Amino acid sequence: MSKQSDSCPTLDRLAFTREDFDYLRHFVAAATGIVAGDDKYTLYYSRLAARLRRLGLADFRAYRDYLKQNPETESIELVNSLTTNLTSFFREPHHFDFIREQIVPARRRAGDKRMRIWSAGCSSGEEPYSIAITLLQSILDIAHWEIEIVATDIDSHVLASGVEGIYAYDRIAHLDATLRERYFRRDPASDGARVSICEEARRLVQFRHHNLLHPWPFHRPFDVIFCRNVVIYFSQDTKRWLVNRFAETLADGGHLFMGHSESLYRTSDRFDSCGNTVYRLQAGVDARDGAGGAP
Ligand SMILES: C[S@@+](CC[C@H](N)C(=O)[O-])C[C@H]1O[C@@H](n2cnc3c(N)ncnc32)[C@H](O)[C@@H]1O
Repeated sequence: MSKQSDSCPTLDRLAFTREDFDYLRHFVAAATGIVAGDDKYTLYYSRLAARLRRLGLADFRAYRDYLKQNPETESIELVNSLTTNLTSFFREPHHFDFIREQIVPARRRAGDKRMRIWSAGCSSGEEPYSIAITLLQSILDIAHWEIEIVATDIDSHVLASGVEGIYAYDRIAHLDATLRERYFRRDPASDGARVSICEEARRLVQFRHHNLLHPWPFHRPFDVIFCRNVVIYFSQDTKRWLVNRFAETLADGGHLFMGHSESLYRTSDRFDSCGNTVYRLQAGVDARDGAGGAP
């Protein structure tokens, strides 16, 4: 995803005081859970300077006023500028092996042909489409299954890319040739520089704009939740609150997949580790314990 460069331009520098930085980082933390330490000062400047220039504002003090006057619309732009959306197809491939080797066979053994999966913090769609491809590869009679993959993100720009499902060819260059040919189509209009995700995978995924800190609009439990490389930007309190909400939203024995550096150690004791940042919800744990409103 293209975001403004994180290096700090030196020409025509817009005044950005410590007070401006504190105001904006508190605003973003309250809105999204994403906390920024002092080391993120340059990142804030570089991500937002282009926005100020587009708005014709002289400095960050004026931007704070603009944000106060246009809270609904500008908070979306602000958040879109400050999220980190790094992702890739089949990132952390052992997670997709786990679906193929453990989850699908267990479903089959139970004679249950339904699966509801949430990719929470899905960025531009590579994660939910990788899940969809994994299911297409491992369930040959998928037409007889009820599969739903719900993909959500707070950033409306990346979400729009996911809905579009078109990627630069180099985003899939690392994948196995058979997989590339089977699940992606070359976009003739781009001389093959871009590919689109195949229709079968696209049909399995529904994208929705959603902030994890806001009420959750789901009425049925999920069997699997992917929330990878999202809580790494949150405080420990927000992470604990979120993981407890995931526990309430999972079906009995459901699985939670976290990013490679996001263990549940000291975060929740309601899950058993299946290794490699895959967790299984324990049966019979009090579902209300520790959740409630966003911290
Ligand atoms: C680094 S990306 C991870 C993408 C994907 N899960 C992966 O691991 O490849 C983190 C994503 O979380 C999203 N995010 C951050 N805070 C969020 C929130 N409060 N609600 C929903 N999404 C959020 C960001 O917009 C970003 O797209």
